[in-house]
Amino acid sequence: MTAKKSTSASGLSARRGGTKNKSRAFKPASSAASAKSKVKSAAKSSAGSAVSRTKSAGSVLPAEPLNVYSAILEHLEADNRFRQIPEIDSEATNQKKPNVDLLSNDYLGLGQEADSYREEFLERFPDAQFTSSASRLLSRRNKYHNQLEAYLEQLYGRPALLFNSGYHANVGIIQALAVPGTMFIADKLVHASAIDGLRLSEADFKRFPHNSISKLRRILTENYDDYERFIVVVESIYSMDGDISPLKELVKLKKEFPKVILYVDEAHAFGVRGLRGLGMAEELGIIDDIDIIVGTLGKAAASAGAFAVCSPMMKDYLINSARSFIFSTAISPAQAAWSLLMVEKLVGMNDRRERLKEISREFVDQMERRNNMETPSSTQIVPWIIGDAGEAVLISKYLRACGFDAMAIRKPTVPAGSERIRFSLNALLSDKEITRLVGAIGKYH
Ligand SMILES: Cc1ncc(COP(=O)(O)O)c(C=O)c1O
Repeated sequence: MTAKKSTSASGLSARRGGTKNKSRAFKPASSAASAKSKVKSAAKSSAGSAVSRTKSAGSVLPAEPLNVYSAILEHLEADNRFRQIPEIDSEATNQKKPNVDLLSNDYLGLGQEADSYREEFLERFPDAQFTSSASRLLSRRNKYHNQLEAYLEQLYGRPALLFNSGYHANVGIIQALAVPGTMFIADKLVHASAIDGLRLSEADFKRFPHNSISKLRRILTENYDDYERFIVVVESIYSMDGDISPLKELVKLKKEFPKVILYVDEAHAFGVRGLRGLGMAEELGIIDDIDIIVGTLGKAAASAGAFAVCSPMMKDYLINSARSFIFSTAISPAQAAWSLLMVEKLVGMNDRRERLKEISREFVDQMERRNNMETPSSTQIVPWIIGDAGEAVLISKYLRACGFDAMAIRKPTVPAGSERIRFSLNALLSDKEITRLVGAIGKYH
């Protein structure tokens, strides 16, 4: 299989005529049809056809064991869902100037500036090793992990436990909480890591329509007598729609239904919202009302890893039962120390948080005024819903040719029919860049 080449802007306009829908607008993913993966059926039919081929040839030889995987890849390619790691390095593309990065979740721009903190880091943490060589429970190199947890505890006023990534945190915590008598109720749009945690734990779970408190209430009412606890799983800022969860209403609901445990993933709000960047829980003054807050360190915090904020008892429980915490080598002391430095920096960056809000509002405003497009977003994540995987890929290439790197997001990341371009804004974007981006989108639209 050969790698696909970028389509030039002119080549693109020739191809796009047939698929473009003029009345298309930014639409919420929740309104889209639900996705059904054809990949498994491709695998099945490929295995089936391989068997029948060998049978019809009068042979009982089994199919080549690896054929099924190449068949799946071919199916993904035919369905415009073949993923590739982007080549955006300006050296690789021979560009004079790198494209404006609207792919990464470097919301405060800290990642772009990481080099400027290198000396401070080396001076302050000269002994930080590059490997933990064991899980936290076995490692002797916990000094900076402990310091980072202590600093997070000081900020949130409750204990924090580090995980190797947000993925590890969601999978590990959800699995640990899934004891008998528990039902999980998750928003329809929660991240794949939460879904994987639910699947792995074989827990009873239901999904409620995106941000619908009334539907959530109905699920609780209908099942309330059958379970001892209900763990409601939401994100504070949704990673693909860029809208905000009704957290205050959820806290009210928790008071109405005392069996509810509230689990909030703040991956896209940590660093970005709240006076000190502690997320929507800080902004809304409800940190103490949420049982478990997950924050990630690989997005606005320009590092890697994640943490859970919870009660002292829950911290002990997770240390003793979260398999992704127990059975995985810890992030390195150097990574923990770097996270500590970055979290310290982001706490004081309220001016950037304000600037990011301003840019996000401006971008959405201009998209509405100049391009007549609506969006579910009220944050720094702004989706342009296309509704077709092939066209989303073409638009992403078109934008790249215009100097902007923005990702085409397809199923299974978002439901079929809600394929989109995801614009991930950051506080260092200039007004000019925003205006230029809106202009480029307008030309296509
Ligand atoms: C809402 C949400 N939670 C968790 C994660 C996983 O975090 P990490 O990248 O640290 O594994 C992501 C990643 O994009 C996310 O969007």
